[in-house]
Amino acid sequence: MSRLENRSALVTGGGQGLGRAVSRRLAQEGAHVTIVDLNEEKGRECVGLITDEGGSAGFVRANVAKRDDIAAAVAEATVDGKLDVLVNAAQYFAMPKALELVTDKDWELSEATGPKATFRFMQLAHPALVASGGASVVNFVSGSALAGIGYTGPYSAAKGAVHALTKVAAKEWARHGIRVNAICPFALTDVQRDMIGTEWDNYTRTAEGSPFGRGADPDTEIAPAVAFLASADSGFVTGTVLYVDGGMTELSTVDYSASPGVFEG
Ligand SMILES: NC(=O)c1ccc[n+]([C@@H]2O[C@H](COP(=O)([O-])OP(=O)(O)OC[C@H]3O[C@@H](n4cnc5c(N)ncnc54)[C@H](O)[C@@H]3O)[C@@H](O)[C@H]2O)c1
Repeated sequence: MSRLENRSALVTGGGQGLGRAVSRRLAQEGAHVTIVDLNEEKGRECVGLITDEGGSAGFVRANVAKRDDIAAAVAEATVDGKLDVLVNAAQYFAMPKALELVTDKDWELSEATGPKATFRFMQLAHPALVASGGASVVNFVSGSALAGIGYTGPYSAAKGAVHALTKVAAKEWARHGIRVNAICPFALTDVQRDMIGTEWDNYTRTAEGSPFGRGADPDTEIAPAVAFLASADSGFVTGTVLYVDGGMTELSTVDYSASPGVFEG
């Protein structure tokens, strides 16, 4: 597989979870991948995995909520003035709670790491994306926003904004040959695993009620879908959401109102 040979890619949140799987896959397909993450240990670990596999990768420690960090990351990822692939996967996840209990911090961190970071990465990378002559942006949205899931207010609002931003950018940037799409994934990653056995355990049981009764494998089921959107194989696809969630968003009705009162404090 060499669909991304000689391409440069930047993946936010590339240190763990879906971002890690995506970073590895883009590198396996030939891209030079710049992993951008707050967690230096995990980011560098991912670079090690990629180089051990014969791929090419670098790491930039950055807080995606900070403009200067974003500018530095974009500069590092840009090769010969070009950035071919931008994947916005980093996101702060506020623990589920009723709207009445949402704090300003829950709201502000969700917004700063979600739509604001996605917007800033896209805006600051724009010249390098134009220079690519065929760039692809892949943003991460969520079924919680698209289907409406209770107790996820700040997170869902953030993902709804990312969805809207994806469509606006796709429309504005088609004239520059830049495609902008979103992935709507569903996979049990560390963020949910950390909740297993805790008072939030019910939240993680979503998988049992989904059509396939499980979440995706990040390496074999999520990352290839992102690689498809990143590559010329999806050259006429823009402004869309690719659901890689085993049908969870479109086919099932997840209802956390059946969850224990813990979400209500
Ligand atoms: N896992 C799912 O089922 C699911 C479902 C819908 C949407 N998503 C979205 O997919 C994306 C990846 O999810 P995941 O489950 O792999 O998450 P995760 O929490 O396992 O990984 C997120 C990564 O982002 C990094 N990060 C967080 N805040 C950051 C910041 N301020 N600056 C820089 N890096 C930061 C973390 O260090 C981590 O490496 C997220 O946007 C998430 O909202 C995931």
